[in-house]
Amino acid sequence: MRIEPVPALVGHLSVPGDKSISHRAVLIGAVCEGESHISGFGRSADTEATIAAVRALGVVVLEDDVDVLRIDGVGTDGLRASEAPIDCGNSGTSMRLLAGLVAGQRGRFELAGDASLSARPMERVAEPLRRMGARIATTDGHAPLVIDGAELRAVDYELPVASAQVKSAVLLAGLRADGRTTVVEPTPTRDHTERMLERAGARVTRRPTSVSVEPGDELRLGELEIPGDISSAAPFFVAAAIVPGSAITVHGIGLNPRRTGLLDVLERMGAKVAIYNRRPIGGEPAGDVEVRASDLVGAAVSAEEIPSLIDELPLLAVAASHARGDTIVHGAQELRVKESDRLEALVEELRRIGGHVRATADGFHVRGVPARLRGGVVDSRGDHRLAMLGAVAGVASREGVDLRGAEAVAVSFPGFFDVLEQVASGAVHYPPAS
Ligand code: S3P
Repeated sequence: MRIEPVPALVGHLSVPGDKSISHRAVLIGAVCEGESHISGFGRSADTEATIAAVRALGVVVLEDDVDVLRIDGVGTDGLRASEAPIDCGNSGTSMRLLAGLVAGQRGRFELAGDASLSARPMERVAEPLRRMGARIATTDGHAPLVIDGAELRAVDYELPVASAQVKSAVLLAGLRADGRTTVVEPTPTRDHTERMLERAGARVTRRPTSVSVEPGDELRLGELEIPGDISSAAPFFVAAAIVPGSAITVHGIGLNPRRTGLLDVLERMGAKVAIYNRRPIGGEPAGDVEVRASDLVGAAVSAEEIPSLIDELPLLAVAASHARGDTIVHGAQELRVKESDRLEALVEELRRIGGHVRATADGFHVRGVPARLRGGVVDSRGDHRLAMLGAVAGVASREGVDLRGAEAVAVSFPGFFDVLEQVASGAVHYPPAS
């Protein structure tokens, strides 16, 4: 796909529902009592994999609209083993959270995924679940996983890597354990699971660096609205921040403080970020966010901040390439085990189009130049976040970008290019001339 440079990006838009929260709504709705009504569901290849998975486990999911679901929950002990392997596609969240959800059920469950997911580490989730008594076999540490349901015991588990997926798997397994399960996190990660479990009536105790869940309660989600996905808004924020004359407002997005790291760093770099209409949506902080272009300077990003912008780091590297001076990102090794080796990929792909980026021992370093990148070829390597990197770099470039593997965006945001075209073609300069 050819991405042409644009003079400015201007407009108001909304993005699909948060992917992390959408997965959780389906998984937690599946083990609730009675019907859950989900609106603002973020439909994508990843979240459809989760719908298909719970259907395979005997849960009825009705799709009333593209973003409206009704889930007929079977209770915390009602999931049924499926004959065929459950295909999690490209989705790490589906696989890791499902592993926790089925570990304490009856029967055998096999979880499989595509080539990218099958290359990602799964011992990190199998190990704590085994401590709880789960019977899980990985394939040399990877998918496919074979799980034989077992009686689970409660544990106190300290996460060795900051991972919301692992934390969530342990908490979901904790719903079927024999006491209070606690997860200690060295660095806080997204807390959508604990928020939603609490909302559904589970006994959840939250402390600054740990969270506990107890089994035994009947869960009810009822009506749940999901805010827009800040990770899907992120490409528009970065494009608006770096293309002179741009101003973009994204309405109704989640602003959970454990997800807003990109906005914090962009502000530190000098971008104009304004938040309006702060309000809760579905038990999550949310609001409307406007980002306007300005001259950016480089910034330092610390390891503690990484979980709050982990999926936005490839885009941050694009912003940093357009900023004056150096941007240094620490503690970002986890990028190596995402849908691709995103550290190597972002360095190589940005270099190919004129960026000055290098990998460091624990992250990356960008030498920014306050001018448009040259442009050229960007390959997504089948990774949605890299396809978005290529698209944003393309609109902000001098010569445009030939984006290979653009279709990968469907993993999280199937309509991404339509929205991009709208804000690019509506390119009236800001503020309006008259
Ligand atoms: C996610 C957690 C993060 C993130 C992923 C979604 C989640 O992964 O990168 O895109 O929904 O819990 P880790 O938990 O592996 O850090």
